[in-house]
Amino acid sequence: MPHPRNIFLTGATGFIGSHLTARLLNDGHHVTALARPSKNVSARERVQNIVSAPGVTRFEHLHILEGDISLPHLGLSDTARAEVISSTEEVWHCAASLSFEQQNRTEIFRMNVDGTRHVLDLVKQLKGRRLHHVSTAYIAGNRSDVAMETEIDVGQSFKNPYEESKCRAEIMIAEAHQADAIRASVYRPSIVIGDSKSGRVTHFHGVYAFIRALWTALERLRRRTPQRDFIRLPLRVLGVENQTLNFVPIDYVIDGMLEISGRPDSAGGTYHLSNPLPTENRFWLPSICRILRVEGIQLVGHGSFLKSPMTKLESLFQKQMAFYYQYLQGEPRFDCRGALDALRNTGIECPPVTVEFISKMAGWYVDFLEAGI
Ligand SMILES: NC(=O)c1ccc[n+]([C@@H]2O[C@H](COP(=O)([O-])OP(=O)(O)OC[C@H]3O[C@@H](n4cnc5c(N)ncnc54)[C@H](OP(=O)(O)O)[C@@H]3O)[C@@H](O)[C@H]2O)c1
Repeated sequence: MPHPRNIFLTGATGFIGSHLTARLLNDGHHVTALARPSKNVSARERVQNIVSAPGVTRFEHLHILEGDISLPHLGLSDTARAEVISSTEEVWHCAASLSFEQQNRTEIFRMNVDGTRHVLDLVKQLKGRRLHHVSTAYIAGNRSDVAMETEIDVGQSFKNPYEESKCRAEIMIAEAHQADAIRASVYRPSIVIGDSKSGRVTHFHGVYAFIRALWTALERLRRRTPQRDFIRLPLRVLGVENQTLNFVPIDYVIDGMLEISGRPDSAGGTYHLSNPLPTENRFWLPSICRILRVEGIQLVGHGSFLKSPMTKLESLFQKQMAFYYQYLQGEPRFDCRGALDALRNTGIECPPVTVEFISKMAGWYVDFLEAGI
């Protein structure tokens, strides 16, 4: 059991933050979580409900502060802020906007850039000035070469304001670290999916939105033809078969971040928590289709739609999934040697994405969707 620490954490109601909070509490640490209430549910209740899903039953070491990262001083009162500054040993910054839409650019930057600046302002006041920042491997944007852990801005362009804002936040952190104002470690997960053992997932971003859109279309068809198990759905999806997506299970991300964060040499480091073996689109899509019991879905290039225009269903699907389609055209490769070196001989390894793995991940989610009918 590690020495219990006093940790201030943002994003505890989110996918990564809730799993991290659960692990920190189970490991005996004291967690002060900054969270927002919803219209009818207090911040405390929201965090407790979400954090209990990954398996926490005792909350006596969980302290909740209502706040908002986009506000100066994180929206904390002077008393609450002074209390956090005097008691916190390290900060984990997980909160962010994961919105991709160009029309939300200002809001995304307010959360991801201004929000990170407000967190930095707090970290600078702490005795140990220690920050663990959760970024994303996709700050590499439209790079077509190998993105190194030591690189941030190499003049790349971005697919969307999310990537750009997360890159800007990292630049701010690097500058503060270099100026000796903080001691930061940066973790860059790729696309985080469910638990590698059970497939279980608590939040449904990215590829799960893709599965859900397909499942919803298929449900409508199944209602019309209930006797058929496998459905034929001729649907062309704009994407490149031999390009990849980089999936990492949530347990690898949490285990990896916590292990690395405990290493004395991790301050100043940036770590790609990405899969050393990204998955080709032609491999994961058929596996998901098998689980959804559908055939006829194929990845095609723009040329296919020039030859034969989009059907109504295809254009509806494309519109719904516009942001995720960007990633089906290709992604950078992420060099993750720093993370692999730090995790060598710890038993923490990113599992390869096999058919069995995809089936477990998609199967868990489809069961979840079907149970909700
Ligand atoms: N999920 C992935 O595949 C993935 C991959 C790579 C990197 N990441 C990074 O990992 C981090 C966590 O992502 P996630 O998947 O856990 O996202 P998530 O599930 O969408 O959670 C986002 C969290 O941020 C909080 N938040 C947003 N705006 C806030 C504000 N103004 N004030 C306070 N809290 C605010 C949300 O609180 P509410 O519940 O109140 O909205 C929520 O707790 C992010 O930095 C993201 O960029 C995620």
